[in-house]
Amino acid sequence: MIRVGVCGFGYWGPNLCRNFAVNPGFRVTAISDRREAARAKAASLGSDIRLYEEAHDLVDDPNVDAVVVATPAASHFDLARRALARFKHVLVEKPMCVSAEEGAELVALADRVRRVLMVDHTYVFHGAVRKIEELMRTGALGAVSYFDSLRVNLGLFQPDMNVLWDLAPHDFSILDHLFGEEPDEIEATGHCHVNPVHPDIAYITMHFPSSMIAHFSLSWMSPVKVRRIAIGGANQMVVWDDLNQEEKLKIYDSGIEFQPEDERSVIVPAYRIGDVHSPRIPPGEPLAAIIGHFGNVIAGRETSRLDGHHGLRVVRMLEKTQAVLNANLAARDQRRAPPASSVASR
Ligand SMILES: NC(=O)c1ccc[n+]([C@@H]2O[C@H](COP(=O)([O-])OP(=O)(O)OC[C@H]3O[C@@H](n4cnc5c(N)ncnc54)[C@H](O)[C@@H]3O)[C@@H](O)[C@H]2O)c1
Repeated sequence: MIRVGVCGFGYWGPNLCRNFAVNPGFRVTAISDRREAARAKAASLGSDIRLYEEAHDLVDDPNVDAVVVATPAASHFDLARRALARFKHVLVEKPMCVSAEEGAELVALADRVRRVLMVDHTYVFHGAVRKIEELMRTGALGAVSYFDSLRVNLGLFQPDMNVLWDLAPHDFSILDHLFGEEPDEIEATGHCHVNPVHPDIAYITMHFPSSMIAHFSLSWMSPVKVRRIAIGGANQMVVWDDLNQEEKLKIYDSGIEFQPEDERSVIVPAYRIGDVHSPRIPPGEPLAAIIGHFGNVIAGRETSRLDGHHGLRVVRMLEKTQAVLNANLAARDQRRAPPASSVASR
């Protein structure tokens, strides 16, 4: 039985606790949150759960074998490092940390102390991703030419985080898991409408060595929530609409075939419009599967698919994208700034 301590009992912490509670390999023994109301809510989970105000104190509790970090992203590195340094296994929320330098330190520390460092990139364990993986493995999809994600909703605006770091970890982790390649070129633009320094809309395009192109529309300014990913393969195309309860995944047996160049005078592609089918996605919460995987990795029964290296690659993609976004926003601000002479003459 692995004794778990959960840091952060805001929105996501209770979901983690609920899933740990039904896994026989774990027992939640401690919860920490700075907010009294959150601790009061956590108290209702059982009188045997120790409550802490400060996450540091939970991490130091000798009765905790594994620490779950579900506090805001800026605190992930500090808490994960402290837990690993005390020889505890760590499941850290997305994003693993806020810089590649921090990520590399966590990976090295986990290796040194021989403890599990895992990131909760929940969607990697989604049934739709598993199905897409199967289509790729069997060759049914064919060579992938594009990955197009629309991930928008209204808010939640966060004071210390922008829309890129909030929403893109989902897409970047799916990409890393499915394709295992990092982009060689990134384009990114966006806008800060609400918070003057944190973009709430971002449009990102990535180019990969395999010649796949990926595009991400991320927004906290959309009146409707959309979670839709389209993946185009040479043989089939897939649309995953995560909010569609009946037909989450649709597989289109469609494609475009070009004649060899020497046999054509104009580009007339042959459109192949075939059947559409919607496979059943096995029920079950991805988070429950991740927690099961965490237990199996700790026990040495499985190799982690969400280890620190994977978490670091995602953070690196976020960091590189942020740098491009920053440069574009700064250049635009400069273009829009009034010329120095007009300021002086006011
Ligand atoms: N995997 C997913 O699908 C998913 C979904 C939502 C959120 N998340 C991640 O979970 C993390 C938390 O997000 P949230 O939406 O629950 O945020 P939240 O603000 O609702 O909750 C965070 C809680 O942590 C507490 N806290 C902060 N610092 C603390 C400290 N040092 N000690 C004790 N308590 C502390 C706060 O009081 C707050 O209640 C973020 O990293 C977020 O990206 C992941």
